[in-house]
Amino acid sequence: MTSTFDWLGRVGETWAAEWQLTDRSFGFLTDQLLAKASERPFLQALDVGCGAGEVALAIARGHARAEVIGIDLSDKLIAVCEERSGYLSNVSFIQGDASKWSAPSFAPDLIVSRHGVMFFDDPVGAFRHLAGIAAPHGRLVFSCFRSFSENAWAERIDAMLPPGSTVPPDQFSPGPFSFADRAHVEGLLRDAGWTDISFLPVDYPYVAGAGPDAVDQAIEYFQKIGPAARASAKLTPEERALFLRRLRQYLTANNDDDIIALRAAAWIVSATRG
Ligand SMILES: C[S@@+](CC[C@H](N)C(=O)[O-])C[C@H]1O[C@@H](n2cnc3c(N)ncnc32)[C@H](O)[C@@H]1O
Repeated sequence: MTSTFDWLGRVGETWAAEWQLTDRSFGFLTDQLLAKASERPFLQALDVGCGAGEVALAIARGHARAEVIGIDLSDKLIAVCEERSGYLSNVSFIQGDASKWSAPSFAPDLIVSRHGVMFFDDPVGAFRHLAGIAAPHGRLVFSCFRSFSENAWAERIDAMLPPGSTVPPDQFSPGPFSFADRAHVEGLLRDAGWTDISFLPVDYPYVAGAGPDAVDQAIEYFQKIGPAARASAKLTPEERALFLRRLRQYLTANNDDDIIALRAAAWIVSATRG
């Protein structure tokens, strides 16, 4: 289970160091998410679990009249956001817990998140809070992974680790795959006061490596980011050698003209404040 503690510590630090690679891996999904978020006009946008800021920055660039705030638990990630925001004057970043944060003059009519809302300990409470700070008829638009089995790359890499070294994801505990089940997410959002809930399935190329050293890049990547990262850090030298051999074989087989783009499956979920 990915807990708050992880984002405040090692996992947050790794994402802060590797943001160019995570942004690259999400590239195609980001375009789809931004298109969905921009379907209706908005004046104030909140990017929940903004990570290194890619979505908040893109929205601020594309909507010069909108005021955009990105919020994340990790101070390391917020430092990256601030460095990246440069000359943009309509975006700011806050280190804090989105399930509790509010500001007096900020009632977002767009709440957006790229894979940042699956980690709340109390998802109904968090989404109710977000509904509470949103403007009347404010929209929520977020992406999240569909199931482990639809994300064959995650299932395959997990299976390369020694049995028992990974914690099987408890379906609904906070973590990257906890919003895979559509009925579950719909129930959470309804209970929290959101209506007009819709789910757009998006299959996208999850780019793990590119260029002449694509395979080596992807091997590095999966040891740091994603569902196998934590377990792979704890392997014995023999286990590691076996894991890396299997990983190299799989990634080499998926190297297409110097690009390793694994098929990934996400939802883009939209809802309106009731
Ligand atoms: C999978 S990462 C995605 C980051 C970013 N949205 C992106 O797409 O690169 C999840 C992010 O959510 C943040 N997060 C998790 N729970 C949060 C909370 N309660 N409040 C604010 N941020 C949170 C984490 O710190 C982490 O940066």
